[in-house]
Amino acid sequence: MNTLRQKSSVIKDSYPIFFQLGGVHENLPKQEVLAILEGEEYPYKVMENGTQYLIANTSLTCGYHTAFRASYCRRSIRILKKSTVSSTDTISSITAAISREIDFTNFFEKNESFLVRVYRIGKVNTKYLSTDLESSIGKVIWKQTKGKNKANMKKPDIVFVLVFYDESYVFGKEIYSRQKGAFDERQANLRPFFKPGTLEPRFARLMVNLAKINKKSLLLDPFCGPGGILVEGGLMGCKIIGSDLDGKMVAGARKNLQHYLPNTSYGLLLSDARDLPFTESIHSIATDPPYGKSTSTFGKGIEDLLKQFFEEAHKVLVPGGIISIGMLSEVPLQQIVEEAGYKLEIYEKMYIHKSLTRRVGVCRKV
Ligand SMILES: C[S@@+](CC[C@H](N)C(=O)[O-])C[C@H]1O[C@@H](n2cnc3c(N)ncnc32)[C@H](O)[C@@H]1O
Repeated sequence: MNTLRQKSSVIKDSYPIFFQLGGVHENLPKQEVLAILEGEEYPYKVMENGTQYLIANTSLTCGYHTAFRASYCRRSIRILKKSTVSSTDTISSITAAISREIDFTNFFEKNESFLVRVYRIGKVNTKYLSTDLESSIGKVIWKQTKGKNKANMKKPDIVFVLVFYDESYVFGKEIYSRQKGAFDERQANLRPFFKPGTLEPRFARLMVNLAKINKKSLLLDPFCGPGGILVEGGLMGCKIIGSDLDGKMVAGARKNLQHYLPNTSYGLLLSDARDLPFTESIHSIATDPPYGKSTSTFGKGIEDLLKQFFEEAHKVLVPGGIISIGMLSEVPLQQIVEEAGYKLEIYEKMYIHKSLTRRVGVCRKV
């Protein structure tokens, strides 16, 4: 089940932005980008989406912040030219078309340096050698700016990017690019408190984003375990509260939060997710309940536990509040959430590795 929602308001200072997405899943990376745009109430309009990309009209600031937050977004690019690639196209003809349509002098301050990069989504248009195309476009930029702006391979001020996808390409100015290994230092086994089965940071961040949280509102993880979801929420500037039925987990989550968020305030408490000590004040819940083994569920069957949790969560969520939930077991989620008063908006399977497939559900309190 997929929902690609969009706002179609008139957007001031908006540009077509290309979000280049990871290939881990067909829908979830797109849904993540849209959830951020919606959660942060950024004005946007989806123009196009396909395998591993989404094009939306929005502001440059939103294009930056959305890509920065989204765990499965590689980069965002302000599109300056978009074209189909024909069988007769050559590196020269592509470069000439870019040169004709773009006045590069508009993009530079004084002596700023630049770099051109070519990427592909899938193995498309491999006949155009990336390095040749990069240097051909680079020469055009150098000529247009009369040599004032030089290429810099190591630390360019501006990066121009061409991405081939399907039968097309976009060329534009990179707004944000995720560094390789950005999540490495928070890998679950490197945290001060580690428990096997805990979520990796990338997936934890996906869960937070899908919950459509924004910086002004409250995020709860009522099965917080070692706090992987809370750490990602806190790093994105959300107000976070975690609870768990196991005191050791609450203490472990505190250790991890102190380590990654030493200057942030947060709430952590010992509590049963079926009996939460909150009023109707939580905007988003992102969580990863136990996996259905009786030890991890304190003797309860996973379906019973989920039913009681969703009923309880209904009392603490604000109207329209969102729950994103990751699970390992196959449960009749649609039936469970509808009976408890929610609308299921997303339910996807995500293959992690040979012996691990996660289910991701997102529902809205109605
Ligand atoms: C899969 S772990 C959560 C892992 C966490 N999301 C992370 O990535 O670090 C599930 C947690 O649910 C807790 N739990 C089990 N039953 C519970 C209940 N009824 N109420 C609250 N917590 C519960 C367990 O103690 C365990 O820490």
